[in-house]
Amino acid sequence: MLTVLDNPLVRRDITLLRDKTTSPDRFRAAMQRIGTALAVESAKFLGLRTLRVQTPLEETEGYDIGHDVILLPVLRAGVSLVQAFSDLMPEARIGYIGLSRNEKTLANEEYYCNIPTLTPDSLVFVLDPMLATGGSICSTLERLEERGAKRMVIVSVIAAPEGVKRVETMFPNIQILTSTLDRCLNEHGFIVPGLGDAGDRYHGTV
Ligand code: PRP
Repeated sequence: MLTVLDNPLVRRDITLLRDKTTSPDRFRAAMQRIGTALAVESAKFLGLRTLRVQTPLEETEGYDIGHDVILLPVLRAGVSLVQAFSDLMPEARIGYIGLSRNEKTLANEEYYCNIPTLTPDSLVFVLDPMLATGGSICSTLERLEERGAKRMVIVSVIAAPEGVKRVETMFPNIQILTSTLDRCLNEHGFIVPGLGDAGDRYHGTV
């Protein structure tokens, strides 16, 4: 299921990301703010466990997060969402998967994989700002399923309809959260209107 986060602050920040004159420092700051909004929205996927807490006046009911939260950024661009998510979910464990998209074939190649040990309570947030053809996300989900993952949520900033369709076809029960659903992919597999290459713009390696 696809959720598109609609919020005036996020729309303003998406515009900053799209603007080709935005410098890497302003790009990072906008991505941090969007990441915070996405992390707040992602909280709806978290279960709670109840507990008892002693206030200065009496004992009452309280809550703690009921999942073992895992953050899995897809390198490199996914790094841009880690700080916001780990600020709001400080109990999270963090893994990394490194995928590089071949710009001619659009196929992705895995160059790094370090996923924390998963438990039956694990809820994995896969962080990748760009969901283009969906190839990187599908490879990541396959890798997670091999490790026994049962609950996974995709978090993106900009998604293309083609990529959403591919992911939902391969993983019909998956939750996808994005802040913008763009028009389509162009002939080079880039999201349009898009923002260019998020990894390069975030890291200042354009
Ligand atoms: C980009 C982007 C996503 C992927 C999306 O990564 O950051 O990870 O491509 O494309 P897909 O949906 O068609 O798989 P890129 O290969 O440019 O690496 P980078 O993050 O290191 O820049």
